[in-house]
Amino acid sequence: MKPIKVGLLGLGTVGYGAFRVLARNQEEIQRRAGRGIEVTKIAVRDVERARALVAGACEVVGDPMLVVSDPDIDIVVETIGGYDLTRELVLQAIANGKHIVTANKALLAVYGNEIFAAARKANVMVAFEAAVAGGIPIIKALREGLTANRIQWIAGIINGTTNFILSEMRDKGIDFDAALADAQQLGYAEADPTFDIEGVDAAHKVTIMSAIAFGVPVQFDKAYVEGISRLAAIDIKYAEELGYRIKLLGITRRTDAGIELRVHPTLIPAKRLIANVEGAMNAVLVHGDAVGATLYYGKGAGAEPTASAVVADIVDVTRLHTADPEHRVPHLAFQHDALSNTPVLPIEEVTTSYYLRLCVADKAGVLAEITRILADLNISIDALLQKESREGEPQTDIIILTHETQEKHINAAIAKIEALETVLSKVTRIRMEALS
Ligand code: HSE
Repeated sequence: MKPIKVGLLGLGTVGYGAFRVLARNQEEIQRRAGRGIEVTKIAVRDVERARALVAGACEVVGDPMLVVSDPDIDIVVETIGGYDLTRELVLQAIANGKHIVTANKALLAVYGNEIFAAARKANVMVAFEAAVAGGIPIIKALREGLTANRIQWIAGIINGTTNFILSEMRDKGIDFDAALADAQQLGYAEADPTFDIEGVDAAHKVTIMSAIAFGVPVQFDKAYVEGISRLAAIDIKYAEELGYRIKLLGITRRTDAGIELRVHPTLIPAKRLIANVEGAMNAVLVHGDAVGATLYYGKGAGAEPTASAVVADIVDVTRLHTADPEHRVPHLAFQHDALSNTPVLPIEEVTTSYYLRLCVADKAGVLAEITRILADLNISIDALLQKESREGEPQTDIIILTHETQEKHINAAIAKIEALETVLSKVTRIRMEALS
């Protein structure tokens, strides 16, 4: 059989990684795919650099439309990133009958519904294993391996940059800015780290997982997103004293009222396996009704781990290229006409437990006033820690762990607590998950 022809958009970390892995493992990949896979054309901005890298192995062009509209190309691999240009290129490639492989979580979280609809119309596949948790085959697991299950919830450490920063803050007792500077120096964090540290990258990824897990459209605009940039080293220390670690989790859960879709720093019991995922590693915990809890761990970024997922998608598409489109695995795991309109819950409707840190005047009756406010709102206290006030300081920290309550109730409690004269600064609130 003739080799399948691949066009690459971009030859950066991911694109060049995929090119190298394909070349290096060519023989085994061909035995798996059933036919050869040949990169025939690459579009890049810096044509000279790319020509030097590929050393004559394929054509290099400056205009991505030359890849997207090349009649010989079967699969377009998009590794450029960003939304606007890539949306246009991907839709054009689909219209030209090309299958798409992409690592672009932002594109799919925001424009996925439009792209999947176009792909269905054109009878082509859109594969995106590399978009979530890099080299971990979590899309495959959710879409195929766990297909027997009614998935109940997913909680993932799906951003390596922030996990690295949190590990540094805990290990070294340093604050966020110092840990971010370390991450940038070591090349884990981008020069502009906003998407990572503010939780946007993780929200893109959990949005995609939520759609596949629950059979709903991608709905990034409904996700609650809170990053780690305001996290204080003292909270990591207090959490540790209480037997918890703080991780930036992407969480999606099915409830009777709707779907939770949220990213925020989260206290989780230190004894959970996922609590011990350190540095830039990723891990995703998936709970299905039949299988129970399953955990997937690995590298979420980097040239070759991401290439591992991109090339796996290329092989998948190659195997299914000639299959009847009706017999392919649906893009979002559920048949397109069987997606549900289950609502995504606003964060005020989410039920979870909370860590609260209060800086209070160290005098009689303060704790009684605070616990009265919580009791009046039916918020039950699970644990309470009062630090000794430092000598000469008339103030102290109180840490309260609550049982589960709705976010709107904790918001009301915090507003009342902050209004007390004896409470000296804003209340720090961090959500907690037992993940049991
Ligand atoms: N910037 C991401 C991370 C990797 O830090 O995990 C790509 O999604």
